[in-house]
Amino acid sequence: MKFLKVTSILSSIALVLASGPTEGEAEADPNSAVVKLTTDSFNEFLINNPLVLAEFYAPWCGYCKKLAPEYVKAADSLNESHPNIKLAQIDCTVEEDLCRQFGIRGYPTLKVLRGPENSDDYEGPREADGIMEYMIKQTLPSVSVPETVEEFLSLIEEQAKPFIVQISGKGDEESNSTFTSVADTLRKELNFITAKSEDIINSLSTKYFDFDVSSYLDKVGYLVIHPKENTIIPFTAEVSKDALVNFFKTEVVPYFGDINRDTYMMYMESPLPLGYYFYKTEEQRESFEETFNKLGKTFRGKMNFVGLDANLFGRHAESLNMDPEIVPLFAIQDNASGKKYGVDQAENPEGPSIEQVEELVEQFMEGSAKPIVKSEPMPSDEEVSSAPVYPLVSHNHDALLEDLSKDIFVEYYAHWCGHCKKLAPIWDNLGGLYKEHPESNVVVAKIDHSKNDVDTYVQIEGYPTLLFYPANGEVDEKTGLRIPVPYEGPRELDSFIEFIKNKSSLNVDGSEFKQPEVEEEAEVEHDEL
Ligand SMILES: *[C@@H]1O[C@H](CO)[C@@H](O)[C@H](O)[C@H]1NC(C)=O
Ligand SMILES: *[C@@H]1O[C@H](CO)[C@@H](O)[C@H](O)[C@H]1NC(C)=O
Ligand SMILES: *[C@@H]1O[C@H](CO)[C@@H](O)[C@H](O)[C@H]1NC(C)=O
Ligand SMILES: *[C@@H]1O[C@H](CO)[C@@H](O)[C@H](O)[C@H]1NC(C)=O
Repeated sequence: MKFLKVTSILSSIALVLASGPTEGEAEADPNSAVVKLTTDSFNEFLINNPLVLAEFYAPWCGYCKKLAPEYVKAADSLNESHPNIKLAQIDCTVEEDLCRQFGIRGYPTLKVLRGPENSDDYEGPREADGIMEYMIKQTLPSVSVPETVEEFLSLIEEQAKPFIVQISGKGDEESNSTFTSVADTLRKELNFITAKSEDIINSLSTKYFDFDVSSYLDKVGYLVIHPKENTIIPFTAEVSKDALVNFFKTEVVPYFGDINRDTYMMYMESPLPLGYYFYKTEEQRESFEETFNKLGKTFRGKMNFVGLDANLFGRHAESLNMDPEIVPLFAIQDNASGKKYGVDQAENPEGPSIEQVEELVEQFMEGSAKPIVKSEPMPSDEEVSSAPVYPLVSHNHDALLEDLSKDIFVEYYAHWCGHCKKLAPIWDNLGGLYKEHPESNVVVAKIDHSKNDVDTYVQIEGYPTLLFYPANGEVDEKTGLRIPVPYEGPRELDSFIEFIKNKSSLNVDGSEFKQPEVEEEAEVEHDEL
């Protein structure tokens, strides 16, 4: 949930699906150069045609119909000028398995395929000239192999982002083809360069004095180079495609980069905690650049650091439990625990100091930092004892649930939710029943989840969510709380009572507590007699 929220703020790329213009056919003219592929013909075609643009479509889809004439035009022209590039179509209403295999969720979806194994989203225009230009660019090799030292060094000078160098002093065909295949997979994100001769390899030492290349002259090596920081990170594990892809993906993350639409996925794909510096001006960012580069280097592989332009994405502070109005700010999001940490904003309205940032990072790494918990204030003892339903907030949620001797039924609600308002009197009734019988050891509770950030075993996706924590139930390691049973039946008193009876290991039958009603009935019967 937390991440879906970020996505919606950061990536406003709308998936336009279905409907749209409706004239013409979505399927290309069979006499055109567009090749219709089926599950049966797919693999062989891709083996024989190393560069294919594939359109996954449905015959009824309006945007597919609109694309068709442009697609045909591009295919026919490319067939003349670049016969090594093929344009294909796959009808997803027929080839369902194939489309599922590619995770197709909307039409048309275009993918650049290099053999049956490597597929990349097509991110070019949807008219003939644009398609051609994009695909012709794709024919350029994914690895640059400069011939001379001058070419090599000027290519390196051009790199603004971290890039990859293969030192192939005595490379064999196999390692070479592994590298090419890695480069094909990551070509959209990264630049790959091969240093193929001894003088080129040696020139790396002239540029990067702190790096000794002599040991690489007789073997293959792989380096991630960070041009801004002039650092080289060599690959030291056993070579395989997966190992290299992983290594490059981890190590190209800059020590301190900016998170934005382009880099969002790179950071989200990393399991590491993320330290965010929110800034409003370039001066603010610059004054922390050195600090974060240093921290990024020190905690490489343990934590990533990013800058975030609060003018664009400032609202994201809310999902870090920080106030978006007070910027600059520094916060840490620990994905593994779901916890958030930050330099206190109330005490530092002008933003954190470098020392405070460093201190928080250190404490976080030692495990001594205190997470920021969004919570309403603790209810007083009187509030607890007078309410039929136990009032929970973040601060007392876990403590109550840690009492394994009780059956606890919790409503996770939001103050603005209509269904929750409707449920409120019934929930109060239910709570009252068991509260009058404390020996039952059943507690009915509620928490405004929109104001209290608590970890739950089940992701709360709508309100109200009703979770029953049975007494002596199994404890989940991640949350440290019992594994709850979600309630999905009708939101009625009798049904709740029966559910508690069914799921409780204490076998409490709350219907026996409904004395008043029974008495009333008895009186009525009595009158009749
Ligand atoms: C593709 O090009 C080849 C060679 O020029 C030609 O023989 C063939 O007819 C073309 N295919 C289409 C569908 O235009
Ligand atoms: C590696 O592949 C490149 C092209 O991808 C080629 O130019 C080079 O000769 C190959 N090197 C070896 C050692 O096979
Ligand atoms: C957080 O973890 C989830 C799965 O547990 C993963 O899908 C996601 O990419 C991770 N994101 C970050 C920023 O670590
Ligand atoms: C309780 O258990 C009975 C018998 O297994 C079942 O018929 C009934 O639907 C259950 N009720 C609820 C509310 O779970």
